[in-house]
Amino acid sequence: MRAVQSFTRSLERSENARTRADRPQVFSMRGREWDLLDEVFAPNYSPSTSVSLEFLGCFEDVELPRRGSLLEVGSGTGIVAVMAALMGCDRVVASDINPHAVRNTELNARRHGVADRLRPVYSDLFAALPENERFDVVFWHSNYVLAPADYRYRTTQECAYVDPGYEAHRRYLAEAPRWTTEGGTAFLHFSSRGDLDALHALAEETGRALITRRRREIQDGPDTVEHLLLQVVAA
Ligand SMILES: C[S@@+](CC[C@H](N)C(=O)[O-])C[C@H]1O[C@@H](n2cnc3c(N)ncnc32)[C@H](O)[C@@H]1O
Repeated sequence: MRAVQSFTRSLERSENARTRADRPQVFSMRGREWDLLDEVFAPNYSPSTSVSLEFLGCFEDVELPRRGSLLEVGSGTGIVAVMAALMGCDRVVASDINPHAVRNTELNARRHGVADRLRPVYSDLFAALPENERFDVVFWHSNYVLAPADYRYRTTQECAYVDPGYEAHRRYLAEAPRWTTEGGTAFLHFSSRGDLDALHALAEETGRALITRRRREIQDGPDTVEHLLLQVVAA
């Protein structure tokens, strides 16, 4: 396994971001200020959130529609969901399995005046969503690092970094396309920190195929990381 894919290194990155003395309660990104609660993925210490914004067209020329509805799975601080609402999405649902992230998303939706069209939901992937709700775009900037299936999280924040046995990825691949409107699109923001071969195998097992829509190589500390916007489709 390449060092960039090491789950222990990702857990160290999580612990460093969680405990460092200069971790702010408010950070700046894209010309705005954002609340950052304890135990929530800190976009100011990782370039990956900016890549998510770029993939979704929240600050550059884009192909993706700026109107319509978005389900952001794993919203963290809520920056992507809030930016999507600010860019014109009229219905945004932001789910996270981390209750601190749900609260954080709510705070940032209020801070930026989009609480009327952004609904934070405490949910394991799609579990807490109304059965009939559908979205033009479903998106997850995932915890793409593969950890051993028997790994148990030691802190809440670790679930932003690693997915034991790719159990959540398996369910996401199987379920995400079912939550889109007709003509809608399900995306996964993955990276070379993850195991792409294992992901493709899971896609095959779940009757899905993955189409690479965007690629972006980024220097992240000592690591060169390739970020991928993958579309999840029926095989
Ligand atoms: C890499 S972080 C991305 C956070 C945020 N979207 C950003 O770009 O800054 C991954 C997020 O997925 C969430 N997550 C992990 N497993 C999940 C699950 N089963 N259901 C919902 N959210 C999950 C984590 O709590 C975390 O907030």
